[in-house]
Amino acid sequence: MGKSKKTWYDNFYKQSDFKHRSEKQEYAYIKMLIKKLRIKEGAKVLDLGCGTGFYTHILDLAGMDVIGLDYSKEGVYKANETFKELEFVIADANRIPFKYNTFDLIFVKGLSLFNTSDFSSTKPLITSFLGYLTDGEWLIIALGSNLRGEQKKDSNWFNHRFDSVKQTLLRLDCSSVEIYYTDRILSPVFLGKFALNKFFTKILLFIALKTKLMGELICVIKKLSR
Ligand SMILES: C[S@@+](CC[C@H](N)C(=O)[O-])C[C@H]1O[C@@H](n2cnc3c(N)ncnc32)[C@H](O)[C@@H]1O
Repeated sequence: MGKSKKTWYDNFYKQSDFKHRSEKQEYAYIKMLIKKLRIKEGAKVLDLGCGTGFYTHILDLAGMDVIGLDYSKEGVYKANETFKELEFVIADANRIPFKYNTFDLIFVKGLSLFNTSDFSSTKPLITSFLGYLTDGEWLIIALGSNLRGEQKKDSNWFNHRFDSVKQTLLRLDCSSVEIYYTDRILSPVFLGKFALNKFFTKILLFIALKTKLMGELICVIKKLSR
Protein backbone atom coordinates (compact mmCIF):
# COMPACT_ATOMS: atom_id res chain seq x y z
CA MET A 1 0.00 0.00 0.00
CA GLY A 2 2.74 2.48 1.02
CA LYS A 3 4.73 1.86 -2.17
CA SER A 4 1.74 2.08 -4.51
CA LYS A 5 0.69 5.38 -2.97
CA LYS A 6 4.19 6.72 -3.53
CA THR A 7 4.02 5.59 -7.17
CA TRP A 8 0.65 7.28 -7.43
CA TYR A 9 2.16 10.59 -6.23
CA ASP A 10 5.14 10.20 -8.60
CA ASN A 11 2.81 9.74 -11.56
CA PHE A 12 0.56 12.55 -10.41
CA TYR A 13 3.42 15.04 -10.05
CA LYS A 14 4.80 14.06 -13.48
CA GLN A 15 1.72 15.59 -15.09
CA SER A 16 0.05 17.77 -12.51
CA ASP A 17 0.06 19.38 -9.07
CA PHE A 18 -2.33 20.21 -6.25
CA LYS A 19 -4.21 23.46 -6.62
CA HIS A 20 -3.23 26.23 -4.26
CA ARG A 21 -4.77 29.61 -3.69
CA SER A 22 -2.99 32.78 -4.75
CA GLU A 23 0.43 33.39 -3.26
CA LYS A 24 -1.03 36.39 -1.40
CA GLN A 25 -3.74 34.27 0.26
CA GLU A 26 -1.37 31.46 1.12
CA TYR A 27 1.13 33.92 2.54
CA ALA A 28 -1.64 35.33 4.77
CA TYR A 29 -2.45 31.76 5.86
CA ILE A 30 1.16 30.97 6.80
CA LYS A 31 1.61 34.37 8.48
CA MET A 32 -1.54 33.72 10.52
CA LEU A 33 0.04 30.53 11.90
CA ILE A 34 3.46 32.03 12.51
CA LYS A 35 2.05 35.07 14.31
CA LYS A 36 -0.31 32.98 16.41
CA LEU A 37 2.57 30.83 17.65
CA ARG A 38 5.02 33.76 17.82
CA ILE A 39 7.54 31.86 15.71
CA LYS A 40 10.62 34.02 15.31
CA GLU A 41 12.20 34.97 12.01
CA GLY A 42 14.93 32.52 11.03
CA ALA A 43 13.27 29.65 12.96
CA LYS A 44 14.22 26.20 11.70
CA VAL A 45 11.18 24.70 9.98
CA LEU A 46 10.46 21.32 8.40
CA ASP A 47 7.73 21.24 5.75
CA LEU A 48 6.82 17.58 6.09
CA GLY A 49 5.15 16.14 2.99
CA CYS A 50 6.08 19.23 0.98
CA GLY A 51 5.07 17.85 -2.44
CA THR A 52 6.32 20.28 -5.09
CA GLY A 53 7.44 22.77 -2.44
CA PHE A 54 4.70 25.39 -2.59
CA TYR A 55 4.41 25.85 1.20
CA THR A 56 8.16 25.48 1.62
CA HIS A 57 8.42 28.52 -0.61
CA ILE A 58 5.74 30.44 1.31
CA LEU A 59 7.42 29.60 4.64
CA ASP A 60 10.67 30.91 3.18
CA LEU A 61 8.92 34.12 2.10
CA ALA A 62 7.65 34.44 5.66
CA GLY A 63 11.24 34.49 6.93
CA MET A 64 11.64 30.90 8.05
CA ASP A 65 14.79 28.80 7.60
CA VAL A 66 12.88 25.97 5.96
CA ILE A 67 13.60 22.58 4.45
CA GLY A 68 11.03 20.50 2.55
CA LEU A 69 10.73 16.73 2.82
CA ASP A 70 8.67 14.37 0.69
CA TYR A 71 8.92 10.74 -0.34
CA SER A 72 7.91 11.46 -3.94
CA LYS A 73 11.02 11.79 -6.12
CA GLU A 74 8.97 13.55 -8.78
CA GLY A 75 7.53 16.00 -6.26
CA VAL A 76 10.97 16.87 -4.93
CA TYR A 77 12.39 17.04 -8.46
CA LYS A 78 9.76 19.66 -9.36
CA ALA A 79 10.34 21.48 -6.07
CA ASN A 80 14.07 21.70 -6.79
CA GLU A 81 13.42 22.91 -10.34
CA THR A 82 10.94 25.59 -9.25
CA PHE A 83 12.60 26.82 -6.05
CA LYS A 84 16.28 26.42 -6.82
CA GLU A 85 17.45 28.38 -3.78
CA LEU A 86 15.56 26.16 -1.31
CA GLU A 87 16.51 22.81 0.18
CA PHE A 88 14.48 19.63 -0.24
CA VAL A 89 15.06 16.03 0.74
CA ILE A 90 13.53 12.82 -0.51
CA ALA A 91 12.61 10.79 2.56
CA ASP A 92 9.79 8.93 4.24
CA ALA A 93 7.99 10.73 7.06
CA ASN A 94 8.18 7.44 8.98
CA ARG A 95 11.99 7.67 8.93
CA ILE A 96 12.88 11.35 9.08
CA PRO A 97 16.62 11.71 8.32
CA PHE A 98 17.35 14.44 10.87
CA LYS A 99 18.56 14.40 14.46
CA TYR A 100 16.05 14.62 17.28
CA ASN A 101 15.51 18.12 18.74
CA THR A 102 16.30 19.91 15.46
CA PHE A 103 13.29 22.02 14.46
CA ASP A 104 11.38 24.97 15.94
CA LEU A 105 8.34 24.16 13.82
CA ILE A 106 7.20 21.13 11.87
CA PHE A 107 4.47 22.00 9.39
CA VAL A 108 2.46 19.06 8.10
CA LYS A 109 -0.25 19.86 5.57
CA GLY A 110 -2.42 17.23 3.95
CA LEU A 111 0.10 14.45 4.61
CA SER A 112 -1.37 11.20 3.29
CA LEU A 113 -0.37 9.30 6.43
CA PHE A 114 -3.34 11.04 8.09
CA ASN A 115 -5.62 9.72 5.40
CA THR A 116 -7.11 7.04 7.57
CA SER A 117 -10.61 6.38 8.86
CA ASP A 118 -9.22 5.87 12.37
CA PHE A 119 -7.39 9.04 13.41
CA SER A 120 -6.30 7.46 16.71
CA SER A 121 -4.02 5.10 14.75
CA THR A 122 -1.82 8.12 13.91
CA LYS A 123 -0.88 8.80 17.53
CA PRO A 124 2.51 6.97 17.35
CA LEU A 125 3.34 8.88 14.16
CA ILE A 126 2.54 12.24 15.77
CA THR A 127 4.60 11.28 18.82
CA SER A 128 7.52 10.45 16.53
CA PHE A 129 7.24 13.89 14.85
CA LEU A 130 7.44 15.60 18.25
CA GLY A 131 10.87 14.01 18.76
CA TYR A 132 12.36 16.13 15.96
CA LEU A 133 11.30 19.40 17.63
CA THR A 134 13.38 21.26 20.14
CA ASP A 135 11.79 21.35 23.58
CA GLY A 136 8.76 23.61 23.92
CA GLU A 137 8.40 24.07 20.15
CA TRP A 138 5.57 23.49 17.72
CA LEU A 139 3.99 20.90 15.48
CA ILE A 140 1.19 22.04 13.16
CA ILE A 141 -0.96 19.42 11.47
CA ALA A 142 -3.36 20.91 8.93
CA LEU A 143 -6.17 18.67 7.71
CA GLY A 144 -8.74 19.75 5.16
CA SER A 145 -12.10 18.49 6.38
CA ASN A 146 -15.85 18.99 6.15
CA LEU A 147 -15.97 17.24 9.56
CA ARG A 148 -18.33 14.47 8.49
CA GLY A 149 -16.14 11.51 9.37
CA GLU A 150 -16.28 10.01 5.91
CA GLN A 151 -14.26 9.78 2.75
CA LYS A 152 -14.41 12.63 0.23
CA LYS A 153 -16.43 11.69 -2.86
CA ASP A 154 -13.95 12.73 -5.56
CA SER A 155 -10.80 11.44 -3.85
CA ASN A 156 -9.87 9.08 -1.06
CA TRP A 157 -9.09 11.87 1.43
CA PHE A 158 -10.79 11.24 4.77
CA ASN A 159 -12.75 14.10 6.34
CA HIS A 160 -11.90 13.76 10.02
CA ARG A 161 -14.37 14.71 12.73
CA PHE A 162 -13.30 17.40 15.19
CA ASP A 163 -13.89 15.12 18.19
CA SER A 164 -11.92 12.15 16.90
CA VAL A 165 -8.93 14.41 16.23
CA LYS A 166 -9.31 16.07 19.63
CA GLN A 167 -9.58 12.80 21.54
CA THR A 168 -6.40 11.48 19.93
CA LEU A 169 -4.38 14.65 20.44
CA LEU A 170 -5.42 15.01 24.07
CA ARG A 171 -3.76 11.66 24.77
CA LEU A 172 -0.36 12.88 23.57
CA ASP A 173 2.46 13.46 26.00
CA CYS A 174 2.96 17.12 25.17
CA SER A 175 2.79 20.59 26.67
CA SER A 176 -0.44 21.78 25.03
CA VAL A 177 -2.90 21.05 22.25
CA GLU A 178 -5.18 23.51 20.47
CA ILE A 179 -7.43 22.63 17.56
CA TYR A 180 -8.86 25.38 15.39
CA TYR A 181 -11.14 25.27 12.40
CA THR A 182 -10.71 27.86 9.67
CA ASP A 183 -12.24 28.64 6.30
CA ARG A 184 -8.76 29.23 4.75
CA ILE A 185 -10.21 31.84 2.35
CA LEU A 186 -11.30 35.01 4.11
CA SER A 187 -10.17 34.65 7.70
CA PRO A 188 -6.39 34.54 7.16
CA VAL A 189 -6.55 37.64 4.96
CA PHE A 190 -9.00 39.70 7.02
CA LEU A 191 -8.51 38.47 10.57
CA GLY A 192 -4.97 37.09 10.58
CA LYS A 193 -3.99 35.36 13.84
CA PHE A 194 -7.29 36.51 15.43
CA ALA A 195 -9.08 33.93 13.27
CA LEU A 196 -7.48 31.19 15.34
CA ASN A 197 -9.54 31.14 18.50
CA LYS A 198 -12.21 29.04 20.21
CA PHE A 199 -15.03 31.43 19.33
CA PHE A 200 -14.46 31.44 15.56
CA THR A 201 -13.75 27.75 15.63
CA LYS A 202 -17.17 27.12 17.22
CA ILE A 203 -18.96 29.32 14.68
CA LEU A 204 -17.20 27.76 11.70
CA LEU A 205 -17.71 24.23 13.03
CA PHE A 206 -21.41 25.00 13.26
CA ILE A 207 -21.55 26.44 9.71
CA ALA A 208 -19.52 23.57 8.23
CA LEU A 209 -21.74 20.96 9.86
CA LYS A 210 -24.88 22.71 8.56
CA THR A 211 -23.55 23.17 5.04
CA LYS A 212 -21.14 21.30 2.80
CA LEU A 213 -18.43 23.89 3.25
CA MET A 214 -14.94 22.49 3.47
CA GLY A 215 -12.59 24.05 6.01
CA GLU A 216 -9.37 23.06 7.65
CA LEU A 217 -8.64 21.61 11.05
CA ILE A 218 -5.46 23.20 12.31
CA CYS A 219 -3.91 21.18 15.11
CA VAL A 220 -1.31 23.05 17.10
CA ILE A 221 0.78 20.88 19.40
CA LYS A 222 3.50 22.18 21.70
CA LYS A 223 6.26 19.80 22.70
CA LEU A 224 7.04 19.42 26.40
CA SER A 225 9.93 21.44 27.81
CA ARG A 226 11.97 18.99 29.86
C1 LIG B 1 -1.90 16.04 -0.55
S1 LIG B 1 -0.20 16.17 -0.83
C2 LIG B 1 0.18 17.67 0.02
C3 LIG B 1 1.43 18.32 -0.46
C4 LIG B 1 1.75 19.68 0.19
N1 LIG B 1 1.83 19.59 1.62
C5 LIG B 1 0.73 20.70 -0.22
O1 LIG B 1 -0.17 21.01 0.59
O2 LIG B 1 0.80 21.18 -1.34
C6 LIG B 1 0.45 14.93 0.26
C7 LIG B 1 1.97 14.77 0.15
O3 LIG B 1 2.40 13.85 1.14
C8 LIG B 1 3.47 13.09 0.60
N2 LIG B 1 3.59 11.86 1.40
C9 LIG B 1 2.66 10.91 1.59
N3 LIG B 1 3.13 9.93 2.39
C10 LIG B 1 4.39 10.30 2.72
C11 LIG B 1 5.39 9.70 3.51
N4 LIG B 1 5.19 8.52 4.13
N5 LIG B 1 6.57 10.34 3.64
C12 LIG B 1 6.79 11.53 3.01
N6 LIG B 1 5.88 12.13 2.22
C13 LIG B 1 4.69 11.53 2.08
C14 LIG B 1 3.04 12.85 -0.84
O4 LIG B 1 4.11 12.49 -1.67
C15 LIG B 1 2.43 14.21 -1.19
O5 LIG B 1 3.39 15.06 -1.75
